[in-house]
Amino acid sequence: MDLLSITSLSDDQIATILDEGERWFAYNRQPRRNDHRLDGLTIVNAFFENSTRTLLSFEIAANRLGAQVVTMQVEHSSIKKGETLADTARTLNAMRPDVLVIRHGTSGAPADVARIMDCPVINGGDGIGEHPTQALLDAATLRQHFGRIEGLKIAICGDLKHSRVARSNALLLTRLGAELRFAGPPSLLPDDIAGGTIEEAVVGADAVMMLRVQRERLSEELGDGPGEYLAHYGLTKERFAHAAPYAVVMHPGPINRGVEIDGALADHDERSLIVRQVEMGVAVRMACLDLLTADRRVRP
Ligand code: CP
Repeated sequence: MDLLSITSLSDDQIATILDEGERWFAYNRQPRRNDHRLDGLTIVNAFFENSTRTLLSFEIAANRLGAQVVTMQVEHSSIKKGETLADTARTLNAMRPDVLVIRHGTSGAPADVARIMDCPVINGGDGIGEHPTQALLDAATLRQHFGRIEGLKIAICGDLKHSRVARSNALLLTRLGAELRFAGPPSLLPDDIAGGTIEEAVVGADAVMMLRVQRERLSEELGDGPGEYLAHYGLTKERFAHAAPYAVVMHPGPINRGVEIDGALADHDERSLIVRQVEMGVAVRMACLDLLTADRRVRP
């Protein structure tokens, strides 16, 4: 079994990941952790795009379950000598890893690699495709906070056109019964998503999920001067005041402070779940690794 997209997961698998993620979240807060269920297994991380949260949380998750973890140094790899992704995958496969976690700038690259690998492959983010484990940790964070996802009004705002996080969240949160609203600059709204203004999306929302402006994926500059993006499309205190009185702020990170979100809102002790999302990321990735390796464990 691979974890390439939200649609590749059954309802039962999603429920298991969310339930187990919450259990690992509590486990991770214990002073000593001593689980060895992935003893003898090797997890390989191959990240062809930069990452802090996803890469480190997969490393920590695998370590906490007793696996050996190897992270490919892409900058120092034979990719730099012109080796193709397919040949790299064949090379990694010959080393017999038990799980490969891959992030790549090309949408669909993890699926191409999965066709070569004999072990489960996890998509750690592919271009503007999907980022399924981010959506799973977002759903787990929301469910832990509100006790449910069904019926929640969730605004997803910002650079929707380039956001693999938004794509995976739209699939997952809709499936779990949330009511989604979308907003962003007209030039950053994809054709297949009906979006409005951030003011419309935020009114009465239970949660507001802001997205980073992915300037590295823009074909031309947005043309916004300093402070203009926040003023027109960002989450300010004034706009957030129109959300539900108990509403929360989320962001997958990394944050452009003062661009898509006011830095004080991102840091708000009671209203921001952003740090909690990172903590849940380790827990949910433990649940994913546990699920995907279930048939690889050495049995006595
Ligand atoms: N949310 C997320 O994918 O962050 P990183 O790019 O730091 O992994």
